[in-house]
Amino acid sequence: MHPLARSLSRVLATSRRDLLAATAALRGQAAPPFSVRDGSGWPAPREGGRVPWTPPEAAAMAPGRVVLRSPQGEHVLLVPPGLTILQAARREGLDLPSSCTVGGCGACRQRLVSGQVDLPARTCLTEQERAQGYVLLCVGRPRGEVVVELS
Ligand code: FES
Repeated sequence: MHPLARSLSRVLATSRRDLLAATAALRGQAAPPFSVRDGSGWPAPREGGRVPWTPPEAAAMAPGRVVLRSPQGEHVLLVPPGLTILQAARREGLDLPSSCTVGGCGACRQRLVSGQVDLPARTCLTEQERAQGYVLLCVGRPRGEVVVELS
């Protein structure tokens, strides 16, 4: 398989897991309804069915508080556990720049002013961009309170 295709495949797999986690969070599920685990932290397959996925730590995470700062002012966004910043913004009807929604294009790239945003290991961000404090809102999950400057 071509390395680029392999990378894209990984990003899409991560996105699917994110979507399932977000769906569980929207339904108010603190954990998958069948939380039988094999010790690996992953849900055991359900007989004859598909396995929804929720990050094992999602239920324990507190909602994130994201201050979106722009020349027009600030907007405080609460991000429920399991959702990305972009997903939470869309729930509130905010129209933030985005395109692929899987961390592959950089359309949602914004600068983190303070706080911590968890990102997948593999995204379109370069090491230099990460070091400069850029994050991707489509795959970024806040830890606690963060401030993001919208460009
Ligand atoms: S929308 Fe493409 S990287 Fe976020």
